[in-house]
Amino acid sequence: MAILVTGGAGYIGSHTVLALLERGDDVVVIDNLSNSSKTSLERVTELTGKVPTLYVADILDKQALKEIFSKHNISDVIHFAGLKSVGESVRKPLEYYENNVVGTLILLNEMLRAGVNSLIFSSSATVYGNPEKVPLSEECQVGGTTNPYGTSKLMVEQILRDFSHAQPEFRITCLRYFNPVGAHASGRIGEDPNGIPNNLVPYISQVAIGKLECLSVFGNDYPTPDGTGVRDYIHVLDLASGHLAALDHKAEGSPFKAINLGTGVGYSVLDLIKAFEKAAQTKINYQIVARRPGDVAECWSDSSLAKQELGWIATRSLDEMMRDTWNWQKNNPNGFGS
Ligand code: NAD
Ligand code: WQD
Repeated sequence: MAILVTGGAGYIGSHTVLALLERGDDVVVIDNLSNSSKTSLERVTELTGKVPTLYVADILDKQALKEIFSKHNISDVIHFAGLKSVGESVRKPLEYYENNVVGTLILLNEMLRAGVNSLIFSSSATVYGNPEKVPLSEECQVGGTTNPYGTSKLMVEQILRDFSHAQPEFRITCLRYFNPVGAHASGRIGEDPNGIPNNLVPYISQVAIGKLECLSVFGNDYPTPDGTGVRDYIHVLDLASGHLAALDHKAEGSPFKAINLGTGVGYSVLDLIKAFEKAAQTKINYQIVARRPGDVAECWSDSSLAKQELGWIATRSLDEMMRDTWNWQKNNPNGFGS
């Protein structure tokens, strides 16, 4: 039996493929390489001594999915493939709904046809919209998303919930990631954003390496301890182990689950800068600018359901997250292109 990983060449996907191979699972990847390169998986092979089967194909391509399901004995699907840039989703809503929503529908249909009934879906804390309270537990209201990316995740969760009622033999887990950061400790795989990064940690690390001049801190007048935004940053290897735990516990509980993957601890932008400066032994040049539209003051998880349902907790500290990010950045100043 093999695990099919859609989007497995990407940032979170490649770290999860590595964790799966390390524990002896067979892995098949489908990725159109629209936001990644084959090099990530070549490095996974270098680190594990094992080779995942890669199909360079699109999840919108039914024929490609049919071929994969007929050639391989797939037991479970971990579905990372999708577009993830909030700003781009506002400019290109149709692309986002097509990739993220239609892509998932096509995948589900092909799973149904092939009799594969276990799915883990990459959801996001973004489904909570503007948090009604922190920490955010799964009981909190979802909705009120402010961009097509977030709405696409919300829609897919709803589709999966409805689908699970119609197909009770399915086992579906939506994992709501908080803010994934960090890299494999080897420094061989990590996050390789296209162009100027939108997210805080890749931006800080490109300032540290001298590719970018100065970090703009988006607002210091939030109702938070130091006035800057607070988030729940989680090491990508903790996320990867969360997926393994979800596979192991799929048969327990209800056919549809939505579970937060976070640390349960919030850090501010200034906390991140300080932790990165310590890890990289360098000063991060920054300036305070206006708030970024759409940002919320605080977003961090109540992660107790993951512990209860999956027996999983995040174990890596902020210092480890920053150390591993820096190790990846300094060894690969141009990402996988270096
Ligand atoms: P990523 O862009 O690095 O990985 C996504 C992968 O999917 C890429 O390799 C890309 O080439 C591939 N892909 C995109 N569209 C495809 C398609 N139609 N067919 C085949 N392959 C396709 O992103 P990531 O950070 O690894 O995120 C993985 C998943 O987790 C995404 O669904 C994302 O929305 C979700 N997520 C990410 C974050 C985050 O901050 N990184 C937070 C919450 C949720
Ligand atoms: C973190 C903090 C910013 C950049 C996004 C998506 C979310 C999820 C994860 C996928 C905030 C501040 C940032 C910068 C800054 N992705 N910041 N200067 O916005 O919490 O979440 O990624 O599902 O859906 O919205 O992450 O890293 O962009 O921002 O001051 O140059 O850093 O204001 O407080 P965010 P982020």
